Amino acid sequence: CEKQGKRFSKQRLLVVANRLPVSAVRMGDDSWSLEISAGGLVSALLGVKEFETRWIGWAGVNVPDEVGQKALTNALAVKSCIPVFLDKEIVHEYYNGYCNNILWPLFHYLGLPQEDRLATTLTFQSQFDAYKRANQMFADVVNEHYEEGDIVWCHDYHLMFLPKFLKEFNSRMKVGWFLHTPFPSSEIHRTLPSRSELLKAVLAADLVGFHTYDYARHFVSACTRILGFEGTPEGVEDQGKLTRVAAFPIGIDSDRFIRALELQQVQEHIKELKKRFAGKKIMLGVDRLDMIKGIPQKILAFEKFLEENSSWRDQVVLLQIAVPTRTDVPEYQKLTSQVHEIVGRINGRFGTLTAVPIHHLDRSLDFHALCALYAITDVALVTSLRDGMNLVSYEFVACQGSKKGVLILSEFAGAAQSLGAGAILVNPWNITEVASSISYALNMPADEREKRHQHNFMHVTTHKSQDWAEMFVSELNDTIIENQLRKKQ
Ligand code: G6P
Repeated sequence: CEKQGKRFSKQRLLVVANRLPVSAVRMGDDSWSLEISAGGLVSALLGVKEFETRWIGWAGVNVPDEVGQKALTNALAVKSCIPVFLDKEIVHEYYNGYCNNILWPLFHYLGLPQEDRLATTLTFQSQFDAYKRANQMFADVVNEHYEEGDIVWCHDYHLMFLPKFLKEFNSRMKVGWFLHTPFPSSEIHRTLPSRSELLKAVLAADLVGFHTYDYARHFVSACTRILGFEGTPEGVEDQGKLTRVAAFPIGIDSDRFIRALELQQVQEHIKELKKRFAGKKIMLGVDRLDMIKGIPQKILAFEKFLEENSSWRDQVVLLQIAVPTRTDVPEYQKLTSQVHEIVGRINGRFGTLTAVPIHHLDRSLDFHALCALYAITDVALVTSLRDGMNLVSYEFVACQGSKKGVLILSEFAGAAQSLGAGAILVNPWNITEVASSISYALNMPADEREKRHQHNFMHVTTHKSQDWAEMFVSELNDTIIENQLRKKQ
């Protein structure tokens, strides 16, 4: 009976990401309150029914004592989550340091901030060592929970060493790695002191995935130019070992957004918002408060638009939702003050006693409020300086079934490759171009809006997050079978 049970049980998928899809708040020594965050990855994997999914990652809190760790581990087990405990020091060097101060800006072509350049060069080695140590800690937890036949799916730039550590532990382990950010041109990657070690560590995976074909191409060129390995149509080959490299563009769970719009709660939000902003066109930005999102550039472009289009001044409002993120990293603190300063200046310049042109919120909105906001928006502004994909653009399109608003989208977001024909594409560094695109969007005739929206809506509703996850996992299974056949030949 037990044997039969085993035979029919589903294959296990161990999803390893820096952050678990729950935020944990300690209520007492042995009690924790857990809140599930329904991000893109969670909804993508919820739809993958043929696997039994376990999550492995950092819970985002410091739990130095054993009692607390045990209690949190038990609480998380109920949600199929397994924690990796990172102490304050390692979080500082690995997460704030190497991940968010070095890899993140570099992968988004932003480089290091001028005044930090030398300091970062000096602290580089200790942060890199911490990065490897942290990756080893993730690997130890995976190894402890791994069962023969499991698939291990590693996520993002935080865990580039994980494939290598896992394969060293067990070369038969099925390991995939997916990058959620851009992978930069090999000329940028070359500047990293640890360029070769990182590439080799990732190449230990069986399958390496990116959001776009361009990122995959950059990765393969980095491997050929920096490591001297061979790039093939399938991926990267070194001494007969092939690592498959491919593009898997992520999507959203569009039905979840479309269904939400029918809820009474959301309809009431919509009614309130329409009343609050009656007579005005609504422009919307929803971003993490991150330098890659180009929030200052967006706001300056809006200022230019107001400057040049005086007749629109009291007829349009920009709602900017800026969700605080990585608040311990100095660059992010500076960005917050910079954005506040610009918003204050523009509101002082163009506001009246009864109205301000920019409503800026430093916080996240709950899912229902966000859907309502997307639904009443006339023009969404996504001006990322670089962005792996940008799913806000997808969410906006999914909620625009009746309004058919316009999407202004940065050509440097991965989403530009899929929504480019429906959106107005802009270079976010060119404020004049963005300002005139705002004017074009606000004045766009209904039939053009409809046509552009239909194009994007079709894409968003047919390229869903669940398809993305299924495609990656089935490609990983196929890759392993092909590699076994190659070895036998
Ligand atoms: C990006 C990264 C994710 C990360 C998210 C939030 O989308 O690709 O891996 O989880 O930002 O950032 P945080 O540092 O708060 O986890």
